[in-house]
Order: sequence, then structure tokens, then C-alpha cells
Amino acid sequence: MRRMLVTGGAGFIGANFCHYWTAAHPEDRIVVLDALTYAGNLASIAALEADGKLRFVRGDIGDAALLQSLFRDERIDTVVNFAAESHVDRSILDPAGFLRTNVLGTQVLLEAAQAAWAGGAAEAPRRFHHVSTDEVYGSLAAGEAAFTESTPYAPNSPYAASKAAADHLVRAYNRTYGLPTTISNCSNNYGPYQFPEKLLPLCILNILEGRPLPIYGDGQQVRDWLHVSDHCRAIELILQRSAAAETWNVGGDTQDPNITVVGMLCDLVDQCFAQEPQLRQRFPHSAAARGAPARSLMQHVRDRPGHDRRYAVDSTRIGQRLGFRAATSLTAGLAHTVRWYLDNESWWRAVASGEYREWYARQYGGSRPA
Ligand code: NAD
Ligand code: TYD
Repeated sequence: MRRMLVTGGAGFIGANFCHYWTAAHPEDRIVVLDALTYAGNLASIAALEADGKLRFVRGDIGDAALLQSLFRDERIDTVVNFAAESHVDRSILDPAGFLRTNVLGTQVLLEAAQAAWAGGAAEAPRRFHHVSTDEVYGSLAAGEAAFTESTPYAPNSPYAASKAAADHLVRAYNRTYGLPTTISNCSNNYGPYQFPEKLLPLCILNILEGRPLPIYGDGQQVRDWLHVSDHCRAIELILQRSAAAETWNVGGDTQDPNITVVGMLCDLVDQCFAQEPQLRQRFPHSAAARGAPARSLMQHVRDRPGHDRRYAVDSTRIGQRLGFRAATSLTAGLAHTVRWYLDNESWWRAVASGEYREWYARQYGGSRPA
């Protein structure tokens, strides 16, 4: 039985991980630590908390005293660190917050684990798993080989730089102090509970509300899309099968330009409206309710500064050594994701208010979303 601290467990991937893990390993003790920033949403894991499947603690990974008491009182033996500022566009507007959480916060968390686990006889194998991103490797030119675990780091955004710095600290705590760490560098995730400032949920909601779909630059930037359930499975395999001190690349082997992926989303939403006429009443501002295809909402806007052109992740090593293979195709995963947002309107109505509306107006100009 594990006693696991899941940081950032109220965010997109962390919440999916909590659902995944509590279903697969009901015997484990799960403690979620999350600061509930604009991206954190207790509603994503409230049912698990209500059913006694996890304990939620609101707090910051940079709070050393809180961490010390959690490690001691909960006898934590496993950390999965999702907590981070995660949005590239926000990191361009305000890099400082990214350094505070992603770099300094990670160091405080490493230090707390190191202090708690040093010395005493292990009650269970200990593991500090750090969740990182393929963005630390920078941008690939067309035709260039996909990122492997030995690709040199070359981060281009403040977000990517902060994640790269955190990865180096995790490595250093392993090499210097012997902390049993692992790292995963994963490609772009999508799926349920994703905060609607990332491309895919933003586009789904904008289609439903009849707002433009902002395509940065020419829309030919390529991402390696992975359904979040496959990411959760990869982390499970790493916790179960990887030795400490290892780093694993995780990708979906699905590389498409943004404009193609947004086009696929448009077609999927149009299909739902064609099959379910009542959606026109639920979403009277949508393109379909006005008799237009969702693709008509696509609009090219100013490109992101320093925008990485292409990411592609080589998952050969985790495939061969740990048996990982992405199980969800992009078409099936996008259809499932569209369905989830249609079925969970109250979830996104609640998150797409307040701070989100302010940010949206700042990022895209014009009026705030209704
Ligand atoms: P998210 O922004 O949806 O969630 C982050 C969570 O961390 C939120 O719940 C937030 O409240 C919490 N948090 C932020 N600062 C905190 C702090 N100081 N202390 C405690 N909690 C704090 O992000 P996500 O998309 O779920 O990403 C989770 C992790 O996975 C991040 O580390 C990110 O870098 C990494 N990652 C994300 C992707 C992706 O495509 N989304 C891909 C690869 C790796
Ligand atoms: P995003 O979801 O922000 O993830 P990341 O920047 O971490 O890859 O963006 C995915 C891609 O979509 C990226 O190339 C930027 C692009 N994009 C747009 O074209 N328009 C948008 O409104 C957003 C948010 C992103």
C-alpha cells in the first residue's frame, strides 16, 4: 500500500490522475495538495473527496512547514508532483510566478521529501516522481528527429525554462542527496477537466458560444497530442517498474498541425449538433445554431512570441523498457473530449468565469466571453 502525495491534484492532469489512481489502487492513501490557483478546481475531484477516496489539503508546494507536517502525519512514501504554473501564454505575460512555483516550489518540495525520508528505515519504497514536459527540449525543424531522453535541453518560453530548471533540481537531489527521483517529459495532453485557456478546450467552448477560434500565426505548428488517460498510465508504469534516477519521454506519436486538429474538433462538434437537434437550443450562439459550420469560426491571429514550431516525442524507450503504448487515437480521444465538455457544462461554466474572463480579454482583446 502506498501513501501518496499528489501535488496539483485539482488541476487538469492531476485530477485525471486522481480518478485513475483511486479506481486502479483503492487500497492506497491519497493526499492531494493544491493551492487552487485559477487553474485548480476542487470540483474536478470533489466526488472522490466526498467518497473518502482522497484527502484534500489546500496549500502551496513552497510552504515548507505545511509539507513537513504532511510528510510526518501522513507518512508519505510517494510524491507525484504535478503542481505548476502551466500555460505558456501566461508565462510570457508574467514569468515571475512561474519561477516561484515551478522552480522554487519544486525545490522546497524536494527538500521536504529529502528531510522526511533521510535516515530512518524505509516503511515502503520511496519515490519522488516529477511531471515535466517535452517543451524543455525546445523546437524541432520539419523532418528533424523526435526528442529522445538524451536530446539537450533548449527551452524557449519562460514556462519551458522554469520546467527545465525544475528538472535539473530533481536530478541534482538524486545525484547529490540520493533522493529516489524519476522524471517524465510528456507531450501535449488533452481530455476532461482541462482549463479552457489551452487550445483544445478553448476551441470547444468557443465553438459552443460562437466565438472566433484564434489560430496563432499560420496554424502550422505541430504538437504531439496525448490523451490524458495515456499519460496517467505512463506515470503508473514508471512508479511500478522504473528504477530511481531515470527519465522517461512520453508521447502520443500523433503529430498534427494545430489547424488540422482544430478542424477535426470543428467537424466533431458539427456532427454532435447534426445528431442532437436539442444542442441548438442549449447553445443558441453556436455556429451550428446559426446554420454555419464550426470551421467558419477559425481566425488567424498574431503569433505567440518565441512560438515553438514543432514538438515530437520519441517514446521508444518507455515502450521497450516499461511496456508503455498510447492506447487512445487522436480521433477517438477528441470525440470523447467533445462529449465530456457537452456533458459537463456546469463544470466549465463555473471555471470560465471571473479571473478567466479577465485573462481572456487581456489575451485576445475585445470583449470578455459571456
Ligand atoms: P494545470 O495548470 O491544469 O494544473 C496545475 C495545478 O497546480 C492547479 O490545480 C494549480 O492550482 C496547482 N498549483 C499551481 N501552483 C501551485 C503551488 N504553488 N502549490 C500547489 N499547487 C499549485 O496544469 P496541468 O496541465 O494539469 O499540468 C500538470 C503538470 O503536468 C505540470 O507540471 C505541467 O508542467 C505538466 N505537463 C503538462 C502538459 C499539458 O499538456 N497540460 C504536458 C506535459 C507536462
Ligand atoms: P497550448 O494549448 O497553449 O499548449 P502549448 O503551448 O503548451 O503547446 O497551445 C497548443 C498550440 O496551440 C500551440 O502551438 C499554441 C497554439 N494556440 C493557438 O493557435 N491559439 C490559441 O488560442 C492557443 C491557446 C494556442
